[in-house]
Amino acid sequence: MSENNAIKAGGPAGESPGHGVNLSFFSRALAAVRRRVRPRLATADRCLRHIAGPSSFLSSLYYALFSRAFGREHRGVLAGRKRFAEETARPRGSSAFLRRSTHRLEKGLLMRPRRPVFGLDFIREMVDCYERALELAAGRDCCGDAELQWPHEVLAEYFKVVASHPRVDPLKERFSALPMPTNGDARATCVPYRRDLSTASPISYDELLQLSIHRRSVRWFQQRAVPREMIDKAIKIAALSPSACNRQPFEFRVFDDPGWVRKVANSPYGTSGYADNIPVMIVVVGQLRCYSEERDRHLIYIDGALASMSLLYALEVQGLSSCCINWPDVEERERELAGLMNLDPDERGIMLIAAGYPDPEGMVASSRKKPLDAIRRYNFE
Ligand SMILES: Cc1cc2nc3c(=O)[nH]c(=O)nc-3n(C[C@H](O)[C@H](O)[C@H](O)COP(=O)(O)O)c2cc1C
Repeated sequence: MSENNAIKAGGPAGESPGHGVNLSFFSRALAAVRRRVRPRLATADRCLRHIAGPSSFLSSLYYALFSRAFGREHRGVLAGRKRFAEETARPRGSSAFLRRSTHRLEKGLLMRPRRPVFGLDFIREMVDCYERALELAAGRDCCGDAELQWPHEVLAEYFKVVASHPRVDPLKERFSALPMPTNGDARATCVPYRRDLSTASPISYDELLQLSIHRRSVRWFQQRAVPREMIDKAIKIAALSPSACNRQPFEFRVFDDPGWVRKVANSPYGTSGYADNIPVMIVVVGQLRCYSEERDRHLIYIDGALASMSLLYALEVQGLSSCCINWPDVEERERELAGLMNLDPDERGIMLIAAGYPDPEGMVASSRKKPLDAIRRYNFE
């Protein structure tokens, strides 16, 4: 008998029966009190929500005093802002500030008409950050160097075209004295360019429609290992998805070791009944370290979801199937999953994705979709 069961049954072995009776009496009394108090608390909570709802001040007070539902998000956002500042000061590997600034410069470069001087708001901080990133990457054979090719080439193009300005000229001189990042991809296009539109999209509307109809959430898989190359190929496509300022604030954490898959698959609520059948679990993790402002905190979900959709299609075209699984924002589950994933304080779960070869005998839900008229409105017609 486990210790818990022993306590429920009247006390652990070896304890006096009197003690067991007391424990049992107290736990029953406590449960009875809880049962009586719970409906009253629920009523009080309903009243408080009713009163606080219309006022933003009272809503904040409600969530500060009566509910911790956003506690983890608050901590995550603050941890992210701290990490953003740290990574801007010491950019090792990927820096969100550098990526966003590079993106902003590219938009300045492709502007029509292009202004003679642009980027004054951030060019100094950008050159500072780039210089530090270059120093920190020096001698390290890592992705940091490849990551620096993009800012390097965009900065070079910027300084080539920008008109003389007292705030730009000294930076241009500083930049020209910097070494080129090594390990770049000589074939990669890292500055704005004109797309070749002489050939049509390689995929027709009907093909995409067929793929969309073919993809279904699959919950029954063959017990066959999935080659990692297939998952990697899908993630490569996911990485091509749009993201705000091209920051790509997400990571795909893939579990294909059966022991880990079991643990991860059994953590969220949404897999009950089929968790033990899943061959691969992918956890989509958002990184709030990509933002310096709270206003951007939802971008991890938007960008993470866009990339995930591409991933699902990329799995599908390779003969694999998938099912998205909700990452519940329930403190106890969050804590369990965050612990299991070893998440940093600024990292938030976006969703989980079960993947594998579909079992031809397994059924899928029909999941009828809303008709076009129900989800589309032009102007205010
Ligand atoms: C964000 C998200 C969370 C989901 N969570 C679960 C889940 O926890 N368990 C589950 O079985 N399916 C889950 N699904 C799958 C949906 O039930 C499914 O996408 C929906 O019914 C439409 O079916 P379809 O994907 O076949 O078009 C989730 C889907 C999304 C996009």
